[in-house]
Amino acid sequence: MDESLAALLSWYAQMGVDIAVDDAAHDRIGEYAAALAAGKVKAAGETGSSLGAPRERQAASAKQTPALPAAGIDAGARDLAAGAQNLDDLRDRLACFEGCGLKTTALQLVFGDGNPCAKIMFVGEAPGADEDRQGIPFVGRAGKLLDKMLAAIGLDRNKVYIANIVPWRPPGNRTPTPFETAACLPFTRRQIELVDPEILVCLGAPSAQTLLGTKDGIMRIRGRWLAYPVAGREIPALAMLHPAYLLRQPGQKKLAWHDLRLLAKKIDALGLFPKSL
Ligand code: URA
Repeated sequence: MDESLAALLSWYAQMGVDIAVDDAAHDRIGEYAAALAAGKVKAAGETGSSLGAPRERQAASAKQTPALPAAGIDAGARDLAAGAQNLDDLRDRLACFEGCGLKTTALQLVFGDGNPCAKIMFVGEAPGADEDRQGIPFVGRAGKLLDKMLAAIGLDRNKVYIANIVPWRPPGNRTPTPFETAACLPFTRRQIELVDPEILVCLGAPSAQTLLGTKDGIMRIRGRWLAYPVAGREIPALAMLHPAYLLRQPGQKKLAWHDLRLLAKKIDALGLFPKSL
């Protein structure tokens, strides 16, 4: 491959531009100039409002982004999610939900995977590029490591259910914003309620902080049992290091192994699977 083309692609990847959303490139600046020349749009400053040019519109809409509602949760989303009778219904409702902007840049909804009757539920952060393409959570490199972690304590995807706190891929794999996680939270909570697990495992800080209601960092939260309220009871909840972090920091796998052993002991103590260890 031409060296300068390879360098350009590598730069795009580093900037988070790692998917093609159309077959042909669009010259947005040229399109705008042509529309301006044809009198189809007015130049900035001519409109009587300050919202003429696309860049100014973007800046203005960023400023207008609503602050998180006091309770952090939109009542419409809560009602929509609460009405779901089962996981398929919830998935359909989420697919129609327009309250999270991530939907507009993602290829598809990534809802859940594994056994919907599982006693153990894992909740990660957000789909990455592979998940976005396949529509299944944790199928990329981090997912392969998660599969190995599960296998290390006798689990697999037939014994667990896996979801994320946001079901659409954030552009460039950035961390979902608090607004995005809050927008999707009624659906995540309902998803947990419908699976009705005996144990909840939060993978990574965004999942643990969102579901366990703490601002503490993952190194403080991980490795001890907390409680998650679901369907009128409290189930044991464990925060663990995210497999994507473990890929970047393999030296921390010892902490993950400690947490996996905690999980395996709890599974045995609750009698969830005979001979889980
Ligand atoms: N990381 C996550 O948190 N979730 C996925 O589905 C994939 C990677």
